[in-house]
Amino acid sequence: MTSNEHFLVTGAAGCIGIWVLRNLVQEGIPVTMLDLDMKRHRLPLLLNDEEIACIQFIHGDVSDYPSVENAIKSSGANRIIHLAALQLPFCKADPVAGARVNVVGTVNIFEAVKRLGIKNLVYASSIAVYGMSEEYPDEPLAHDAPLKPRSHYGVYKQANEGTAKVYLRDDSISSIGLRPYVVYGAGRDQGMTSTPTKAMLAAADGQPYHISFGGRYCFQYGNDTAKAFIQAARADFKGAEVFNIGGDSVSTAEVITAIEQANPSSRSRITFDDNPLPFPPDVDNRALVSAIGPMLFTPLSEGVAETLDIFRRALKEGNITKEG
Ligand SMILES: NC(=O)c1ccc[n+]([C@@H]2O[C@H](COP(=O)([O-])OP(=O)(O)OC[C@H]3O[C@@H](n4cnc5c(N)ncnc54)[C@H](O)[C@@H]3O)[C@@H](O)[C@H]2O)c1
Repeated sequence: MTSNEHFLVTGAAGCIGIWVLRNLVQEGIPVTMLDLDMKRHRLPLLLNDEEIACIQFIHGDVSDYPSVENAIKSSGANRIIHLAALQLPFCKADPVAGARVNVVGTVNIFEAVKRLGIKNLVYASSIAVYGMSEEYPDEPLAHDAPLKPRSHYGVYKQANEGTAKVYLRDDSISSIGLRPYVVYGAGRDQGMTSTPTKAMLAAADGQPYHISFGGRYCFQYGNDTAKAFIQAARADFKGAEVFNIGGDSVSTAEVITAIEQANPSSRSRITFDDNPLPFPPDVDNRALVSAIGPMLFTPLSEGVAETLDIFRRALKEGNITKEG
């Protein structure tokens, strides 16, 4: 780690973003956030007022090229973590807006990185670039397994992975793409796979909850996911590779058990639909570890207990609504 780091994080008011901000602020690293969200309501879940005051906020739209270039230039950032996106349900509801934010927004980031000579760029892709479990061998999914997205969102993420490769080929711009799977923890209040975290909020509030999917999947704690993005942004990496992040493959039943253990009064009050997500249940992250070094993963029981603690405190302090 060098002392002249300055991170610019797009979409930093979102779930993964607030964990990235917390890690960087607590390390004392200068950080600028670029986001459309003026409310920034998730930040107080993880950061106190003093910590929030350390962050430079730029209100801007990643789909607008001048906003992106001005934000990078004015911040003086030398590391970029690009998270801003519309999640799967929003892309399904409005594919045109989805393409504008997710595809044009990412091209804008790459173009600005090229014009401004930034060396370290990490961007969020997604597990949604893959097809159905049945289309792959019955083993942890390799990062270079064939991409077969079935949603607008997945197709847009695949396009971004292609954009990264073209910027490498044409302009020698290196980047790392990371494909989160199901991220959980404070701040995860929207998107197709947010219901396990919403169940944790309901449990903290003494309410029942029904999780919308079952099966097995990589369940990635927000803090671990954020650390992976930061670690990747610091890596001396040449290429345009995209990696799976890894972490424990768990079932929804195991998630519910962890919630019940952390909050015994939730016993039998959290239920789930036993239909799996349409993606392979486990991923292989060895290629990522070779590229950026070893990573730490929080055990499920610990991540769930910490999430419940954060939600209990936020409910008490009025920093969160019961819907998230
Ligand atoms: N959370 C997951 O489980 C998961 C899984 C796979 C991939 N991802 C990807 O990781 C990234 C971060 O996910 P998240 O869960 O933090 O998402 P999120 O929905 O919580 O946050 C997205 C953020 O992007 C901002 N944003 C949206 N449009 C913007 C625009 N035009 N300009 C600037 N900011 C804009 C939003 O205001 C929000 O703060 C996204 O790219 C997402 O596709 C997340």
